[in-house]
Amino acid sequence: MVLLTDRSQKRLTIQTGEIAADTTTIRSLDWDRDRFDIEFGLQNGTTYNSFLIRGEKIALVDTSHEKFRQLYLDTLKGLIDPPKIDYLIISHTEPDHSGLVKDVLQLAPDVTVVGAKVAIQFLEDFVHQPFKRQIVKNGDKLDLGNGHVLEFVNAPNLHWPDTIFSYDAGTQVIFTCDAFGMHYCSESTFDEDLSRIEPDYRFYYDCLMAPNARSVLSALKRMGELGEVKMVANGHGPLLRHNVEELVSRYRRWSQAQTKAETSVVVFYASDYGYSDRLSQALARGITKTGVGVEMMDLKSADPQEVQELVSRAGGIAIAMPPVSSKTAAAAVGTVLAAAKSKQAIGIFESYGGDDEPIDPLLRQFRDLGLKEGFPAIRVKDTPTEATYQLFEEAGTDMGQLLTRDRGIKQRKSLDTELDKALGRISGGLYIITAKKGDIKGAMLASWVSQASFQPLGLTIAVAKDRAIESLMQVGDRFILNILEEGNYQALMKHFLKRFPPGADRFAGVKTQPAENGSPILTDALAYIECKVSSRMELSDHWVVYATVDAGRVSKSDALTAVHHRKVGNYY
Ligand SMILES: Cc1cc2nc3c(=O)[nH]c(=O)nc-3n(C[C@H](O)[C@H](O)[C@H](O)COP(=O)(O)O)c2cc1C
Repeated sequence: MVLLTDRSQKRLTIQTGEIAADTTTIRSLDWDRDRFDIEFGLQNGTTYNSFLIRGEKIALVDTSHEKFRQLYLDTLKGLIDPPKIDYLIISHTEPDHSGLVKDVLQLAPDVTVVGAKVAIQFLEDFVHQPFKRQIVKNGDKLDLGNGHVLEFVNAPNLHWPDTIFSYDAGTQVIFTCDAFGMHYCSESTFDEDLSRIEPDYRFYYDCLMAPNARSVLSALKRMGELGEVKMVANGHGPLLRHNVEELVSRYRRWSQAQTKAETSVVVFYASDYGYSDRLSQALARGITKTGVGVEMMDLKSADPQEVQELVSRAGGIAIAMPPVSSKTAAAAVGTVLAAAKSKQAIGIFESYGGDDEPIDPLLRQFRDLGLKEGFPAIRVKDTPTEATYQLFEEAGTDMGQLLTRDRGIKQRKSLDTELDKALGRISGGLYIITAKKGDIKGAMLASWVSQASFQPLGLTIAVAKDRAIESLMQVGDRFILNILEEGNYQALMKHFLKRFPPGADRFAGVKTQPAENGSPILTDALAYIECKVSSRMELSDHWVVYATVDAGRVSKSDALTAVHHRKVGNYY
């Protein structure tokens, strides 16, 4: 292993190593998160993984982020004389993997760039110079010699439209780029420590893959037609070698659950335009939190028949306004309008692209058709911030909740009454959970709270999957448990039970002070406890969040905790 460290303050290092016969990984380790991307929520940094396969011919699979320019190129030159590279395989063109393609082309002008048709088109706009290319389709093979026959697998939407996987029959390694990845930066090249990485693996899936669950299942089916897979050489995080079967099967299980959702929303975005794809992802995450499925579709390459099919079976439609200049996108929006039906929900937003079609005339047309508003139109006037992404996630959740409301009411009515009454005898206290992560704040009223361990001191809270604050209660996150006082809880309870619109400041008009962990303490609460999420157990409709506690204080030693007595067990 070679470790190089950049001189700047940011911790950027490079790790190289042999991972299989004739196969070297070049992992760019980005220890410090320096921008907000929805799937970076767990803040464990990330890695950008690139690979060199040396048969008789030599192939480089993906490059790195441009912030690694010097480090990556020096490392590459240390491993190989760049003009000797025959093929540069582009798994997809997102800049964190293809940011240095132009530099590699300068060092190796005769290299043949291998990628899906869309990837090559994107690259033409990106590198602005002629290059040799080879467009590959599903099932195409590239023989590098010495047994390294690469077979390409079409994996569109994982998570870019142009994604391909490359399977090396010689080593049984599959190169999957974003798929099966995670934003987790450590010295470990592989996944030996499953319990440490699994929250990040899941969170990354939820953010990037769940909105494309159907595409995940199609890609898994194609992967199944290959030979045995011994290693998944992903593009982010540790490579999968010890838990290949387990982690791949989780993608299958989670995606099957997504596609079984009774209702779905189709989210139309414009790839490569403004912040359309990122904001759509945040929206999609908010929707999937409610158990509603999502289908993402790129307006700029949408097939009219597919648009029509998706819209006709969806419960809701969300549209990111495309650029005025895109005729294909305008035609696709026309197809959406023609296929839309009353009773569907609609939500429209701008993505700060600079040249968006206006929202109002389109929204009016949907309303005239009888569609109900899934969330109020969102107009992004500045570069998106953390708060913008929160707004989109909450808007998505609102839309999902609108579509599942009737189901929830039905479920509540369907419980057996005697059992229901007996369950209602389980009581709890009244608490407000408050959390702050970066610029984002959240709060919720809770009563399913219980101490759960002595050593270390810990407690559990059952948090419904579609709670806004759920995103701030990931493993490693900190929050405050505010304990309400008997006889003095009404005002706080009433305030936090209000229905807050997406992105609203839930603390407006409430007295708070910052805790040591940064989250707001409610001044009028009886006591508070500082907590850190240690693990989460997934149930059908809730996450049971287990947190250890570091500090706490009671404001009135003789006062009692507010108790919540219930009559029935089918609500809190
Ligand atoms: C008495 C009471 C206790 C509650 N306890 C919980 C709880 O333990 N967990 C939970 O997820 N929601 C609980 N809720 C529901 C949420 O507090 C409430 O719906 C939430 O604040 C709405 O937030 P949202 O906008 O994120 O959906 C409770 C509600 C009430 C009325």
